[in-house]
Amino acid sequence: MAFFGCPAATLFNELETEQNIVVLDVRNEKDFSRFHIESSKPFELCNISYYNFMEAEEESVAQVPQGKGLRIICAKEGSAKYVAEILDRHGFEQVAYLAGGIKSWGNMLVPKLVVAGEGYELYQFIRPGKASCSYGLLCGQEMMLFDPSRNVDFYLTFAQEKGAKIKKIFETHLQADYISGSAALLQQSDAVLYANAGDFGDSQLPFTPLTDGEVQSFVNNGPQVKVIFTPGHTLGSTSYLIDNKYMISGDTVFIASVGRPDLGGQAEAWAVQLYKTIGKILHELDRSIQILPGHYMNWQEANKQLVFTAPLADVIERNKEIYHIANEADFIRFIKDNIRQQPEEYIRIRLINAGKEQVPPEEAEILDLGKNECAASAYAQAKTSQDS
Ligand SMILES: [Fe+2]
Repeated sequence: MAFFGCPAATLFNELETEQNIVVLDVRNEKDFSRFHIESSKPFELCNISYYNFMEAEEESVAQVPQGKGLRIICAKEGSAKYVAEILDRHGFEQVAYLAGGIKSWGNMLVPKLVVAGEGYELYQFIRPGKASCSYGLLCGQEMMLFDPSRNVDFYLTFAQEKGAKIKKIFETHLQADYISGSAALLQQSDAVLYANAGDFGDSQLPFTPLTDGEVQSFVNNGPQVKVIFTPGHTLGSTSYLIDNKYMISGDTVFIASVGRPDLGGQAEAWAVQLYKTIGKILHELDRSIQILPGHYMNWQEANKQLVFTAPLADVIERNKEIYHIANEADFIRFIKDNIRQQPEEYIRIRLINAGKEQVPPEEAEILDLGKNECAASAYAQAKTSQDS
């Protein structure tokens, strides 16, 4: 048996370095179209259901591109192994299945160093499966974590390998589009959770409420983390300004677009808040601050190191049709004109993230997969890229 298991992180690197591989997804067409793997570089992706391999082996094998390494994907792993065995038998070389199936891709976090500053390191953890980003700030033996996703083993291992412990966890808002890892991390570490009572006021999680303008710090000096309330996407949306240079902006400031204020069902009231927040961003923040968003719309927003970041000045210029809206009424109209439905599962995800509902891991897995719907502008453009 010459085929082998390929971990998600290895496949990610293979695609990023444009190795000579074809990705063969053997799930059914519906599951494939709902969610499949993506990379910042173009690659050959085909979808042939494993049922076809079972029912018409020769015909299906004939459709598989030859001369390249094969990475076979299914839901859990078993069907991909089944197809790998067939293709191996037919003489294909470098055949591998995605270890753990598509969910391992969906949960994968890719650490990218944003900066090694004076006495600290700031990491962006990209989650390609959700087009989302969480962050880790390391100083000495302490790590602060921002917006962790539910792959908590990754963060715990990452901290351990850095000789650090997760001491503080911060949420930028009550997430609706993915399940937060904060609750699980509180159980598996001695970290303290900090959040804005505007979102977490009635949460069942033990959290320390933040105040606007307060400064969080490490035991041994290190960078200061200034808490800036930026309501609009949610009433408790909060950004974190690190060392006066890097702003973890959650779903408030994106590189393309801003966070949509209609997810709470009060589009007009929250749009008013967002308009005020945009005024604060325009007039009170230094334009050289690097924005570190909670989501991205497409890979072109990343820099050469595949870090999703841009100076605030560039972000404003890029989204001037939003930032330059001259008055509140026009801004509300812009938001209302662009309202679209939110996925049904968002209501349950909010309850889970507030600690009000517990779901078994398999169900959490299903709820958690799929892309985000948090961005507000050029809704159509974002929607197109999300659907592609
Ligand atoms: Fe959000």
